[in-house]
Amino acid sequence: MNASKLCSYFGVKGDIVSLKQIGNGHINGTYRLIVDDNGRETVYVVQRINHYVFSDPVRLMENVGRVTEHIRNRYISAGVSPERLVLEFMSSSDGSCCFIDNGEYFRCYRFIDGSVTYELPDTPKLLESIGGAFGNFHRLLSDFDSSTLYETIPDFHNTAKRLDALFEALEKDPYGRAAEIKSECAAYREEAELATSICRASLPIRVTHNDAKCNNVLFDEKSGEALAVIDLDTVMPGPVAHDFGDAVRSACNNREEDDPDYAAVALDVDKFKAFAKGYIAKAGDFLEKEERESLAVGVFVLAAELSARFMTDYINGDRYFAKNYGNHNMVRALSQLALAKDIKSKLPEMERIIRGL
Ligand SMILES: Nc1ncnc2c1ncn2[C@@H]1O[C@H](COP(=O)(O)OP(=O)(O)O)[C@@H](O)[C@H]1O
Ligand SMILES: [Mg+2]
Repeated sequence: MNASKLCSYFGVKGDIVSLKQIGNGHINGTYRLIVDDNGRETVYVVQRINHYVFSDPVRLMENVGRVTEHIRNRYISAGVSPERLVLEFMSSSDGSCCFIDNGEYFRCYRFIDGSVTYELPDTPKLLESIGGAFGNFHRLLSDFDSSTLYETIPDFHNTAKRLDALFEALEKDPYGRAAEIKSECAAYREEAELATSICRASLPIRVTHNDAKCNNVLFDEKSGEALAVIDLDTVMPGPVAHDFGDAVRSACNNREEDDPDYAAVALDVDKFKAFAKGYIAKAGDFLEKEERESLAVGVFVLAAELSARFMTDYINGDRYFAKNYGNHNMVRALSQLALAKDIKSKLPEMERIIRGL
């Protein structure tokens, strides 16, 4: 990438001091860019957008630009300085937040100084803050017309379609892998009704993040307060239960996502309680009754859906999820399936916790 061309495209003034890679960059390459403008240093993040995963980076950046501007305006009208609370993207003179160079797509935004992310939060306080960050994100976007957003990945959380894809893969069985998992796969048919309950329900369609993981929340490294929700590639229309479910599924699992000790995999109810407390407190009162009631079952749905996706990929020859060993995707699938079953057994308790908040 030609950094000076990028700077002139986005109107970033000054001399380039350095450009270094940061983050683990599973999906996007992320760089820290330092620019010196007459003795004043400014730090930016430059990110390459993965256009194999995202087919239209220009429209994707229109979504991201509009959503962040909306959040910024809400902070400003509430008299709060938005500087460290929402990503600020640079745009070109014609308003584009996407710089195209040699067939690759880049965005540039302000680096939030003194911020950290956490991979696996284990304290209730941190979980409450992460729940709060996503509750706040939904609240600030609750008056944004989600139907005007581009659907970055169509049917991303269409659980019924995800299950159909699994059943079709089992039928075709291109690698002869279906026989060994036949009995386990019966569970997907048994759980299909509950697993598709969110996508069949007529819930309010909000602006959702769709990658609601702990490491997509920036925290102030000194105060420990949550600052901004980042990694906004997949902001799309959807029910809030998708984000709530995905965040809880990933953050409140007492084991790693691919733990092969299926009997030990369980949802940590104390972590769930902390997350839900933060989420409900910050979401405030925009949530409608049926949305609140969909949150707990959303956790089951997201675990079952991800399990089905891992299993489909395993049967189809591991084309989507990179694996570390032979049947890694099958192990991931069965581990998430065990989590889904544990969540199902805890649904009455989880629903009681949410009602009590
Ligand atoms: N505006 C920012 N200020 C400070 N650090 C950031 C900022 N944006 C991203 N980062 C850092 O870069 C990492 C990767 O960014 P992210 O957008 O989540 O990309 P990905 O998860 O696709 O690699 C984050 O975990 C965070 O540590
Ligand atoms: Mg990320």
